[in-house]
Amino acid sequence: MEPIVNEIQRAVGKIFVKGNYFYSDYITSQLGNKKTMAILMAIIEKSGKTPTEAIMVFLAAIRYIKKDLDAFAHFEKGDLMGTFIDEHYDELIHLSATKKVQGNIPERGFPLLEVLGKNLPDEKIGVIELGASYGLIGSCLLEPDHILGHPAVYRLNGRQMPVNPKKIDAYLGIDIDPPDKEWLLSCFSVPEDARMLQKYLDTLEFKDNHRVIKASALDFSKLKEVKGFTQKDIKPVVLTSFMLYQFGVQQKKQLIDEIMDFVAQHNGHWISQEVAFKDNGDGLEYYIAWDGKKIIEMPNDKCDQWSWC
Ligand SMILES: C[S@@+](CC[C@H](N)C(=O)[O-])C[C@H]1O[C@@H](n2cnc3c(N)ncnc32)[C@H](O)[C@@H]1O
Repeated sequence: MEPIVNEIQRAVGKIFVKGNYFYSDYITSQLGNKKTMAILMAIIEKSGKTPTEAIMVFLAAIRYIKKDLDAFAHFEKGDLMGTFIDEHYDELIHLSATKKVQGNIPERGFPLLEVLGKNLPDEKIGVIELGASYGLIGSCLLEPDHILGHPAVYRLNGRQMPVNPKKIDAYLGIDIDPPDKEWLLSCFSVPEDARMLQKYLDTLEFKDNHRVIKASALDFSKLKEVKGFTQKDIKPVVLTSFMLYQFGVQQKKQLIDEIMDFVAQHNGHWISQEVAFKDNGDGLEYYIAWDGKKIIEMPNDKCDQWSWC
């Protein structure tokens, strides 16, 4: 088996590719040094996380403890990251081992509104999102005008907008550990994105048709909330968005089998919005699949552009 150090280095090389919107020379160099490598190895050993997940959650834990969305810019100006690791070693290990990366933006709903408009133009739709985080995709699918109607406030210029958006009627989000606002914001690699989200959260009001519950996605179909949901006069659509990559091979297969059974039984559909390593091993690919078939490709997990396959 490949030594863990090599696996971490390989993950760093694949994640932090120059030109990525979140690439940073500073973070990339810090992730290569001995002290950072040692703490990442300890996190992986304690939690069984993949190197990719361990790196991302470790960076979020630093922003969270430092209570600073710009933590890495400030380290770069002389506030040493190594000293910070020494001073907060136990807390960093604990947070990184127990928390998950939970970045969540409403804009990830834009291509989904388009997919629903194209595939289910006349149906009443209820979305069950597995791995919902704060439930912000749900907020966008239920009330797209809240964000689409304010392009200047949310700096949507340059973003691809849905031309035929179909809003949904009910949303049930399921997350193993729904984040508090501070952890959610710490999960953002780009501080400007976190600040934009803060603005959205400040004006957001969840209504009765939006609910997020704490539960595991595995066995979701047995939850009483899901059973209640399917009794409504709506077409159930299961959504997984940037969550399956957090599962090991066996668990992922188990969850996909459960989703497929559920949609077959309830005459529903499954939308997956995912990131995966490319088959040729050359970086990451982002895509949307409808009932397991790839239909849309995207350049990144911000979902700011998309094209139909
Ligand atoms: C990267 S976030 C993505 C959030 C949201 N779906 C989106 O695309 O913006 C992945 C979420 O999956 C959740 N998650 C991971 N494993 C889970 C499980 N077994 N059951 C439920 N949620 C899970 C995490 O807690 C996290 O909030």
